[in-house]
Amino acid sequence: MEEKILIVEDNKEIIDLLIEILTSKKFSFDYVSSGISAIEKIKKENYNLIILDLQLPDIEGFKVLEEIKKLNENISVIILTGFGTTDNIVKAIKMGADDFIEKPFDIKDFLEKIYKYIKLKSLERELTKFKMIESILQLNRTIITLSDLETILTTIINILDNMFTPERIGIYIFDTKNNNYVLKKYKFKNVLQKIKVIYKNYEIERFFKDKNVYVNKFDNSTDLKIIIKGKEKIIGFLDIEFKNEKPIKEEEIKFFESFSLQIGIGIENAILFEMVQNSYVNTIGSLVKSLEAKDKYTKGHSEEVAYYALLIGEKLKLRDEEIEILKNSSYLHDLGKLGIRDNILLKPGKLTEEEFEIIKQHPLITLKILEPLNLRKEEKEACLYHHERIDGSGYPYGLKDEKIPLYAKIIAIADAYSAMTSERPYRKKLSKREAIEELKKYAGIWFDKELVEFFINLIEQQKEVIGNEGN
Ligand SMILES: [Fe+2]
Repeated sequence: MEEKILIVEDNKEIIDLLIEILTSKKFSFDYVSSGISAIEKIKKENYNLIILDLQLPDIEGFKVLEEIKKLNENISVIILTGFGTTDNIVKAIKMGADDFIEKPFDIKDFLEKIYKYIKLKSLERELTKFKMIESILQLNRTIITLSDLETILTTIINILDNMFTPERIGIYIFDTKNNNYVLKKYKFKNVLQKIKVIYKNYEIERFFKDKNVYVNKFDNSTDLKIIIKGKEKIIGFLDIEFKNEKPIKEEEIKFFESFSLQIGIGIENAILFEMVQNSYVNTIGSLVKSLEAKDKYTKGHSEEVAYYALLIGEKLKLRDEEIEILKNSSYLHDLGKLGIRDNILLKPGKLTEEEFEIIKQHPLITLKILEPLNLRKEEKEACLYHHERIDGSGYPYGLKDEKIPLYAKIIAIADAYSAMTSERPYRKKLSKREAIEELKKYAGIWFDKELVEFFINLIEQQKEVIGNEGN
């Protein structure tokens, strides 16, 4: 039996009796006769059940119980007491004891209780196995719903590491450009352990031939490589090392085989998705450039807006993901201008009312262009609302203060400041001081008041980097 019992009892006769009973039933156990030594023992060893006397020579049994529960609340505790008053029992149960046995006890009753709690433990272990299966199913769901390769690989590594605690585990993915397998994610117990980063295609072909699993036994350890297949072809493999003290079982190899079948398609989808996403991002990047190239006055505008927006974002201590949202939307916010006719977009003089109505469409066009890109909702919203104003006089919807997302509010300020401090065909650029005055004038009306104050503070500190206007 794997479960282990600790007896904490100072009465020699009772200890002898317990030893006799437990030995006859082949239980694995230790015994101690004081509270302090019990706590020490529990710290070092793994027990499933403690049989605890309440009256000990050094410290109270209650104190020992408290310590046990602090160390590991999953250990079952049966109180063994000659003072089975209701008060003591209630107190012990309240403190987390599972049951009690009154001295003198009946051997049959005693054994029944021991079996009950030991059985409970093995049931719990079964339940843990069940939970593992559940986590694999969970992984399946994760793989289906998530498209991000990094998250999928991390989840796989964590699940396998929790289940098997191998010496080393790595996931290699096939690199179609270089025709080899590259280590994408790994975890190992010994940080000094070396790991092969690249496998040549022919090495892998030699390993697997027509099998899905390759097992290589060494003196102290066993290497296991399991193919990961996509819909049609091999897309990578799992590489796991086990120490031979804990040899790998046949059913575990079977498990790895079916596990890698499960993850294959998910990984393949994630890789494809990343490729599409990357090429779309590149396309969008060149679109932003082509938009700016149309007009010498707006060249580098998106980059500048992103610079100012991130200044605010960093000062606001936004998280990494939030900074990324702000950065992406700052770059993309004006993309819709690609859909505006050049004679309006590049008109040197003042726009007529109708022309301005057309210009007002650009946030909506931005959204249309970005549609196929799997951008975050916040990124799309930031682009859509970057011309909304606090007092509701903005466009395209005339949203008011609390309805405008933070990212859009930040971009509005960065956008306005960048526009004001650059040359335009119909007006001269404003000095830094003048632009700051304009922002102040419209703070709380067009722009978020607090963000303007924040931004002005930052800009004033940035004197030597940004402006050489000497003010
Ligand atoms: Fe705009």
